[in-house]
Amino acid sequence: MKIVILTSGGDAPGMNKFIAQMARTFKGQVYGCKAGFRGLINNDIKPIEEYNPFAVENEAGSCIYCSRCPEFATEKSFLKAVKNASAYDLVVVLGGNGSFKGAKQLAANGVRTIFVPATIDNDVDVSEYSLGFHTAVKACCDCYYNIMPSMQAFNRCCVFMVMGRRHNAIALNTASAVQADYVVTDKVEYDKIAKVVKANHNKGRATGIILRENLVPLDEFMKNIESRVKGLEIRGVTVGHAQRGTAPTRSELAFAKKFAKCAIKVIKSGNDSVACVYKEGKVITIKNVLYVINPCDLVCE
Ligand code: F6P
Repeated sequence: MKIVILTSGGDAPGMNKFIAQMARTFKGQVYGCKAGFRGLINNDIKPIEEYNPFAVENEAGSCIYCSRCPEFATEKSFLKAVKNASAYDLVVVLGGNGSFKGAKQLAANGVRTIFVPATIDNDVDVSEYSLGFHTAVKACCDCYYNIMPSMQAFNRCCVFMVMGRRHNAIALNTASAVQADYVVTDKVEYDKIAKVVKANHNKGRATGIILRENLVPLDEFMKNIESRVKGLEIRGVTVGHAQRGTAPTRSELAFAKKFAKCAIKVIKSGNDSVACVYKEGKVITIKNVLYVINPCDLVCE
């Protein structure tokens, strides 16, 4: 049996462990498709050993490379991908919400597909957890804890911009874990935030604010607060790609293995296309979900 794995969208810590575990435990031929759906379109597919998965299995990133591939949504490219996929018994797609849509398209067009949620954004609605999310939150918490003592020494306010695209999970979980003074997700209420900054300052306390990306640029956000708390000092930090590049936590590594075990079980069972997801404390499979396509889903981020 020949299977092919691809990692699509943003890389997520834990992808390498998943790939290595599949290469280690699957009793068949495992191939890696380079740079997500783009590799499927271009037939850029090689035996997995050629990507050296075992050398990086505990590292972040993806040894088979990632890409965002808007052309996958065009008919010509998509049909090429389907044709190339037909040389294999099954395609395993790791990615987030956008890649989930791509996996659905493949499955709906007769390609046996397994989808595994892997994105720091945790934005796959059929799964409570996506590979990489825990590590991204850890990276944000580490950044916060490494900076706040210095903010406290100067009684300053610091704004931490975190990733998540349009999804709030990283911001909310980080804020909860570090007990931030304020978390900004959907609405930006400058007056309310300024009030908190001033009150903390008057008590001799630094203020830590978590700001989700794609709401307002960091410098604009800071200027708006500064103008309301005249004379107080504010600093800003973009946590950035450390959220994706941080080495996977031990629990992330364990989850990657659980997802691989689930994928192998599905392959052996001969079941049709499924998604392996995390629900109520367990990695389980959901059937049918990959066939549910609605027309506005036909865009692969
Ligand atoms: O999809 C994961 C993610 O890290 C998002 O949180 C973020 O908005 C985006 O990717 C950043 O993408 P890039 O690395 O292409 O700038």
